[in-house]
Amino acid sequence: MTPATLELAFDHNRSWDTAPDPAQAPALSVGSLTATYDDKPAVFSVDAAFPAGRMSAIIGPNGAGKSTLLKAALGLIHTLSGAVAVFGEPMKTARRRVAYVPQRASVDWDFPTRVIDVVMMGLYRDLGLLGFIRQSHRDAARACLERVGMADFAERQIGQLSGGQQQRVFLARALAQGADLYLLDEPFAGVDAATERAIIKVLKSLKDEGKSVVVVHHDLATVTDYFDYVLMIATRKIVEGPITEVFTAENLQATYGGRLAEAHIDQLRLHSA
Ligand SMILES: Nc1ncnc2c1ncn2[C@@H]1O[C@H](COP(=O)(O)OP(=O)(O)OP(=O)(O)O)[C@@H](O)[C@H]1O
Ligand SMILES: [Mg+2]
Repeated sequence: MTPATLELAFDHNRSWDTAPDPAQAPALSVGSLTATYDDKPAVFSVDAAFPAGRMSAIIGPNGAGKSTLLKAALGLIHTLSGAVAVFGEPMKTARRRVAYVPQRASVDWDFPTRVIDVVMMGLYRDLGLLGFIRQSHRDAARACLERVGMADFAERQIGQLSGGQQQRVFLARALAQGADLYLLDEPFAGVDAATERAIIKVLKSLKDEGKSVVVVHHDLATVTDYFDYVLMIATRKIVEGPITEVFTAENLQATYGGRLAEAHIDQLRLHSA
């Protein structure tokens, strides 16, 4: 499909173009979001609105466009079309209210960087480009490391940490930003049960503080435990809504198709349609 034919598929008159009332506004909303790689849509005309003050999940099979959706919403990759708002404000002006923890990649830390310095990067707005680091910044960064159980590692080189430990440090950096909306791309991938518990505890405490959290998530078994709201995608949106309404066998089947064994579905705590 070429960009020109994609264009024809859009409804440019949808009400999304008018700014919603900020008091009622979702934490993150995307309208008609389409992102392509080499003319091939990875995310096609997705509308979604993640409620404020809640924990939301984005689920779907590998290659469904989950990471692309987050990156496109953040403006990190080019989008063919789409409107994005954070608490009713355009992403451009609201970007400082958003913290993002990308899907874990095998980042090679070519130069030695201490854990505490990685977390202090989260304070960059405070520090400014030419600002100097005060004791109060170190204390703030250390408090974030404590929150994720990594205070003992503050002086270690980030490259010498395990993947799960690095993941906790990146969460600490996001906390240091003091954002209102946290976007995390598979924070539980490849971490052990203790790290998963530590991370979910932090995310739930953010929610208790009134913050909004959107997580790309793979483990269907924990969806009902962890989240209030879910978006299911497979390039296009399948469904979105409160877990209690949309986390059904039918919707999962529509999202994952044959990739989800019946036996697996039976084990999930599903809500009936
Ligand atoms: N940089 C890129 N260049 C070309 N194609 C890409 C690029 N990044 C992703 N894609 C393709 O876009 C589609 C969506 O990828 P994306 O990473 O968003 O999926 P995902 O849902 O996050 O998958 P996973 O569960 O494996 O993380 C896939 O088909 C992928 O191959
Ligand atoms: Mg991904």
